[in-house]
Amino acid sequence: TMKKINIAIDGPAGAGKSTVSRKVASELGYIYIDTGAMYRALAWKAIHSNVDIQDGQVLSSMLESTNLQLTYAIDGNRIFVDDNEVTDDIRSSEVTASVSAVSAHAGVREKMVKKQQDLASSKGAVLDGRDIGTTVLPQAELKVFLTASVEERAKRRHFENVEKGRSSDLQMIMNDIQLRDDKDSTRKISPLIKAEDAVEIDTTSLSADEVAESICSLALERIQKQ
Ligand code: CDP
Ligand code: CDP
Repeated sequence: TMKKINIAIDGPAGAGKSTVSRKVASELGYIYIDTGAMYRALAWKAIHSNVDIQDGQVLSSMLESTNLQLTYAIDGNRIFVDDNEVTDDIRSSEVTASVSAVSAHAGVREKMVKKQQDLASSKGAVLDGRDIGTTVLPQAELKVFLTASVEERAKRRHFENVEKGRSSDLQMIMNDIQLRDDKDSTRKISPLIKAEDAVEIDTTSLSADEVAESICSLALERIQKQ
């Protein structure tokens, strides 16, 4: 039987990480772990518990006592906080606006990274996020860094909202993306940067299927080398 590998996919908001990771995982029969959803779930709980998102100590002890569960299914992953399903709620603009502050705290990151490493410990996982190749899985057999112009990334999010019948303002999305890119890239602990050994793919003029296909061929090469 074929050896399994781990695949790390990093990049800024709207680069296509989750769409492409899901496709790659399903193609290879791997699990897909959306690490952004984990930070979003904590941000969701902070908002609903009236916890100050600037207070790293309170947030990391809250995380300690939180039952954060991910389930994997063909029709999509689901995420639960203390038995409440938050799969859709973590995509709200309120959570989106708070998540970069929540994810910047050292204590929060340390605990999340441990959880993510545990989830990936038996290999055969595709993880997407900001620090997978640099911090969570520095030994991943394949690392990919996805980029696209900020205009293209904002348009993708906008079309997604329109398609789902959500209200959407392109300029506001562009502002949010730029603000988050900036916060995520300049924070002190494991900022968003390309790992030295990551393959960079500019997806601006590629479809999600094309990107997934390239990553699958890279993955098959790496699997054969195992
Ligand atoms: O999908 P989108 O790019 O909008 O964001 P996400 O992947 O759901 O991540 C939400 C936020 O979580 C990011 O803006 C980061 O602040 C944080 N994050 C992180 O710090 N490290 C990760 N590995 C994943 C997400
Ligand atoms: O996870 P991340 O924030 O990096 O992006 P996403 O939520 O997976 O992708 C945002 C949108 O861009 C989705 O609606 C995709 O269908 C679309 N898209 C893509 O992911 N990749 C392309 N190369 C082109 C479009």
